[in-house]
Amino acid sequence: MKYQIAPLFCRPWTLNGISARLIESHYENNYGGALHRLNALTEELEALDPSTTPAHVLGRLKREESAALNSTLLHELYFASLGGDGRAVPEGMAAALARDFGSVARWRQEFIALASALTDDSGWALLTYVPRDGRLINQSATDHRQSIAGGIPILALDMYEHAYHLDFCANATAYIASFMRNIEWNAVQGRYEDAVKVGPPRQLVQEQFTDVPAYPSRK
Ligand SMILES: [Fe+2]
Repeated sequence: MKYQIAPLFCRPWTLNGISARLIESHYENNYGGALHRLNALTEELEALDPSTTPAHVLGRLKREESAALNSTLLHELYFASLGGDGRAVPEGMAAALARDFGSVARWRQEFIALASALTDDSGWALLTYVPRDGRLINQSATDHRQSIAGGIPILALDMYEHAYHLDFCANATAYIASFMRNIEWNAVQGRYEDAVKVGPPRQLVQEQFTDVPAYPSRK
């Protein structure tokens, strides 16, 4: 399988306080690099024979594959998170944030704190919908590989140094503030509306064992 590069969803020259040069370099070098790596790893995995390849070699390649795959997915989400004014949170999205975080302001404080905590430990700050629980959660994902199982990220902030150093040097605080000023909330709400259509995971049903006691016992 060959993965295809996605177009740059936001228009870099419309952003407020983030240069087109930074976004274009990020898209071409870092997102493009991850996609290139992903295709190379996929090719390598497809070419090897799992029955004769040492398990540790296969394990390493699969770890690298999941990191590269997540990097491409999260970069696409990051670029699709930018382009708005960051202020006008649509009613439905505001209600969902208030339900799960207490208020939009409290969500914002937690998200910014989570991103700030990644300053010395590169990673992603994500707002993720968890279908099992029907709720939103802020999470961090370091090394591109810690996304919540079954979770659907709807907003992504890239906290790797390459995402801001060109414009902000080491001032991650200013970068986070600029990101928050450029969130395209209509797109976030659209992704939230898509995410809530996903139901919780299907439970295991075994008709052949209905007479066998369950654990913990069900009344
Ligand atoms: Fe990045």
